[in-house]
Amino acid sequence: MDIEELIGKLDLGAKVRLLTGADMWSLPALPGIGLGPLVMSDGPIGVRGERWSPGDPSIALPSPTALAATWDVELVRRAGRLLAQEARRKGVHVLLAPTLNLHRSPLGGRHFECFSEDPYLTGEIGAAYVEGVQRGGVATTPKHFVANDSETDRFTVNVTVDEATLREVYLAPFERVVRAGAWGLMSAYNAVNGTTMTEHRALQRDLLKDEWGFDGLVVSDWTAARSTEATAAGGLDVAMPGPYGPWGAKLEAAVREGRVAEEVVDDQVRRVLRLALRVGALHPVPGTEPGTGTGTGTGTEARTGTGADGASAATVPAGEDAPIDGVALAREVAARSFTLLRNEGGLLPLTGVRSVALIGSAAAEARIMGGGSAQVYPDRIVSPLEGLRGRGDVEVRHALGTDPRVRLAPLAVPCRAVFLDADGAPLAEHPLAEAEARWVGRLPSDVDGDRLGAVEIRGEHTPAVTGPHAFSLVGSGAFTVVIGEEVVFDGVVTPPGDDPATAFLSPPEHRMTVSLTSGVPVGLRVRHLTTASAGMAFVAFSLGHADPSPGDDTTIAEAVATAAGADVAIVIASTTPEVESEGFDRTGLALPGRQDELIAGVARVNPRTIVVVNAGSPVLMPWLELVPAVLLTWFPGQEAGTALADVLFGDAEPGGRLPTTWPLLEADVPVLDVTPSGGELAYREGPLIGYRAWERAGRVPAFRFGHGLGYTTWSYDSVAVTGTTVTVAVTNTGGRPGREIVQFYLAPPEQDPRRPARILAGFSAVDAAPGQTVITTVYLPERAFQVWTDRGWRTVPGEHTVEVGRDVADRRLSATVTVAG
Ligand code: BGC
Repeated sequence: MDIEELIGKLDLGAKVRLLTGADMWSLPALPGIGLGPLVMSDGPIGVRGERWSPGDPSIALPSPTALAATWDVELVRRAGRLLAQEARRKGVHVLLAPTLNLHRSPLGGRHFECFSEDPYLTGEIGAAYVEGVQRGGVATTPKHFVANDSETDRFTVNVTVDEATLREVYLAPFERVVRAGAWGLMSAYNAVNGTTMTEHRALQRDLLKDEWGFDGLVVSDWTAARSTEATAAGGLDVAMPGPYGPWGAKLEAAVREGRVAEEVVDDQVRRVLRLALRVGALHPVPGTEPGTGTGTGTGTEARTGTGADGASAATVPAGEDAPIDGVALAREVAARSFTLLRNEGGLLPLTGVRSVALIGSAAAEARIMGGGSAQVYPDRIVSPLEGLRGRGDVEVRHALGTDPRVRLAPLAVPCRAVFLDADGAPLAEHPLAEAEARWVGRLPSDVDGDRLGAVEIRGEHTPAVTGPHAFSLVGSGAFTVVIGEEVVFDGVVTPPGDDPATAFLSPPEHRMTVSLTSGVPVGLRVRHLTTASAGMAFVAFSLGHADPSPGDDTTIAEAVATAAGADVAIVIASTTPEVESEGFDRTGLALPGRQDELIAGVARVNPRTIVVVNAGSPVLMPWLELVPAVLLTWFPGQEAGTALADVLFGDAEPGGRLPTTWPLLEADVPVLDVTPSGGELAYREGPLIGYRAWERAGRVPAFRFGHGLGYTTWSYDSVAVTGTTVTVAVTNTGGRPGREIVQFYLAPPEQDPRRPARILAGFSAVDAAPGQTVITTVYLPERAFQVWTDRGWRTVPGEHTVEVGRDVADRRLSATVTVAG
C-alpha cells in the first residue's frame, strides 16, 4: 500500500483531523482510505483498554521496576508478547509504554513505573519490552521524552541539564529503543532547558527524527500539547486526547495562512499511516487494491505491513507465537523479580515450618501496583494470605498489625453501577466487584452517552461489627450518598490544584461516620451527576469503608502476640496509594504509618522474622539489624501471593537484583530533591545519579545497585577478553540449581571525579545445576567507551577495566579492554 498515494487523497481538513484524538483514547477512522480507528491504551503493567473499568479486566504484571529487577531480557520480551496478546484481545493498537525515565531521586512519584537508575539497564530492558510488544503487532510509545523523572509541577517544570548528561544519561535509553525499532514515542509534559518538550524542535526533530532516524510517531502526553504552531514545527505528530485541543481548526488555519507548511502536516500524517500499517489498522479499500489485504486490526490473525515507503513492520504469521498463559507468566515474572536483600543463617527458603504468623494490612488486601495511569483491573488477585494458605501444609494465622493507608479502601461487596438519564430513568446497569465505579474514556457500549445524566453505585452491606463505621466518598463533582435511610452527603467535591488528571487519578476523599448494627443489612446509594460530552466519559468514584477499629495500639499488640506463638513471623510492610502514585512526589522514604514500630515489636518476640517489603521504590529499614531476612517483592502484580509462597518455600528462587540503590538513611541519598525552584529543576549533579553518585560520594547504602541473594552460592572462576567481548566462567557451588545475574562494570583509563568511577556495561542471566560451570559472553557496547563532547561522541582511547561480579561493589574478576580513539 502506497502511503504517499493515500496522503494525496486527503484534503487538508481530513489530514488535520487525523492528528488529534477522536476521543480520550483513539484517533479517528478515515474509511475512505481504509483506515480504522487507532486505539491507544496504558500501559505499562497491563493493557487497560478503552474503558479503564473493572468491567474490562486485564492481566496485571509486576511493576516496571520489578521487571527490571529480573535483569532478564528474554523474560521481559515474553512479558511484552503477553501484553501484545492482551492488546489484541482488547482491540488496542498502541500501548502507552514503557516508561524510560530514570530513578534520579527515590522521591519520584512514578519511580515504581520506571525501570532503573541506570541508563544501560533501562535501555536494555526497555528495548526487550518494545521488541516483545511489537513482535505481537502492537506499537509501543516509550515515554516520557525526556527528563520527566519526577512529578512535582510536572506540567510546567523546566528541567535544566547539560548536553553531555542529557545524551549519556537521560536520552540514552530512548536512543536504545529507537535503535530497537520503536514505532512510537511519547513527548513529556515538562520543559527541558527552557523549551516545553512537545515544542522541542532540537530534541524531537533534529535529534530524534533526523539524527537517530526515528520513523515512528511522536504522541503528546495527555494534554501536553498546548500550542498550535510551535508543537507542529517542534516535531510533535499527534496531540492527545481529543476531540478538543490546540490543533484541529486552528492548525488548519495555520496551514492555510502559511504559518505551518503543509509538508509538516503531510509528514505527521505519513507517520500516523505508517504506524497504522504496522499495527494492521490500514486496509486496502475494496476495489482499489484487489488481493493485497492483510489483517483486520483485532483478533489473532496475522498483522503485517511493509509500506511502499519502506516502513518495517511486525510480521506475525498466525499461530507462530503460541498463546501465552498470562496468570502463569505473571507468577513467573513476580518470583524472578523478588529480591532477597538479607538472609541471615539461611532462614529462607523455609523448611520444616508448621505455623506462620502473617502480619500486615497488605497481607490480606494485596498491594499489587502503583497508582495513576498505570493502574489496571485484573480479574483475580492472589493476596499473600491466600497464597500462603493455598499451600495447605502450613497453619497460617493472620493479624492486621497496623493499616498504613490514609484513605479507606472501597467497600468490598458486590454492587451495581446504574446509568441514569437526566430525569433519573435507568439507561443500563453493570455489576461491580466492589463499591467503585470507573469508566474513564469510554462508557460501556450499551450506555447512550448523549442521554447520560448520572451514575449510581447501588449495593447492600451487612456489618459484622456494631459501632461507628467509617465511610468515605472518593470522587470529584456532584454527589449524593445515602446509607440506609440517611442522606449522609449531598454536595459538590472540588479537586485541589490545577492538574486535570488529579480529578480521576487521585480524587479527594470525604469522610462520614455512620452507626451500624452487626447483622442488620443497610442499603447503599452513591449518585454522581455526570454527562459524557462528545462520547468522553469521566466516571471515577467510590465508596470507601472501614469497620470500627479497636485502635492501632490494640491491633499491634495482637499482632505481636500472634507472632510470639508461631514458628516463623512474616510481616508484609507496604507503601500506600498516598505514597506512590502519579501526579505527586513522595515527601520522605520512611514506611508510612506505624509499620516500623510493628516490625520491631514482632522481631523482639520472634527471632525468625521475615520482612516482606511490598513497595515500588526504596523505603528505609530502621529495623534491618533486628530481622534475619528481608525479601523485596516490589508491586508484584496479580499473582502476588502465589509467587510469594513459591519463593518463601523454595519452589522458586528469588531471582531479583536491585536495579536501584537502596539507602540506609535519607540524608545519605546523593540526589534527593525533586522540588523545582522558581519553576526550574536543575540536574546539577550532572551524570552522577544512582550508584554513580553513591560511589563518588563515598557513601555506603543499605543495599547496593545489583545486589540480590539467591538460594545457592557461586564462584567467579575466570575472565577472558577478545576485543570488546568478555567471556566469564562461573560455577554454582551450592547444593541446589540456581540462577545468577553476572554483571559487567567498565571503568575508564583515567578517573575524573565529575564522572562515574564505573558504569554497568553488560549483564547476563545464567542457570546452573549444583557443581555446574557455565560460560557466558557479553559484547560491551561502543557507547560504554564513549563520552559526549562539544564535537559529538568520542571514544576514550586506552586501557579500560572491565570488572565482573554480583553487584556494583562485589566485583570478583577483572580484566583490561584496550580501545583505540
Ligand atoms: C501520563 C501518561 C499516560 C497518559 C494517558 C498521563 O497523565 O503521564 O503516562 O500514558 O496520562 O493515560
